[in-house]
Amino acid sequence: MKRRSFLGWMGVGAIASSLPVAIAACSNTSETGSTDNPPTANTAAPPAPETVAAAGEFVAVGAVADLDQNGFLLTKAADTEVIVVRNPQSTETLVALNALCTHKGCKVEWKGEASEFSCPCHGAKFALDGKATNAPATEALASYSAKIEGTQVLVSVG
Ligand code: FES
Repeated sequence: MKRRSFLGWMGVGAIASSLPVAIAACSNTSETGSTDNPPTANTAAPPAPETVAAAGEFVAVGAVADLDQNGFLLTKAADTEVIVVRNPQSTETLVALNALCTHKGCKVEWKGEASEFSCPCHGAKFALDGKATNAPATEALASYSAKIEGTQVLVSVG
């Protein structure tokens, strides 16, 4: 192959291989179709499902199957950390409490064998109604309405 012919083929190859990149770089639309925000690296976790609700409105926080399999649901309802369990005294009803310990804000854990919530950080314990039963926490966990509809657990934090 002659030198001139070779350089010609190289030029065509370079243009062909960089064309898709050049077209993408010149586009002013992102994957979402927005022209206002340039695309950014996707390093963050996917956004949580939208759980914003009006005061008193019930929002779905998880599946009944997950509640029964794990013994509890630790989730969010309208930006409030919530822990939901079946009431051991009446398993058709649910108990939903704020999951953040009133001492310093660690997430409480459900201790089914003792029917109580326990804080792993400093040992506070809470009864089913949220009342603090063991120091250092002295204030109760907020209690919320919860119910089952179909296959979903719903909580109202309003
Ligand atoms: Fe729960 Fe301290 S944060 S006992």
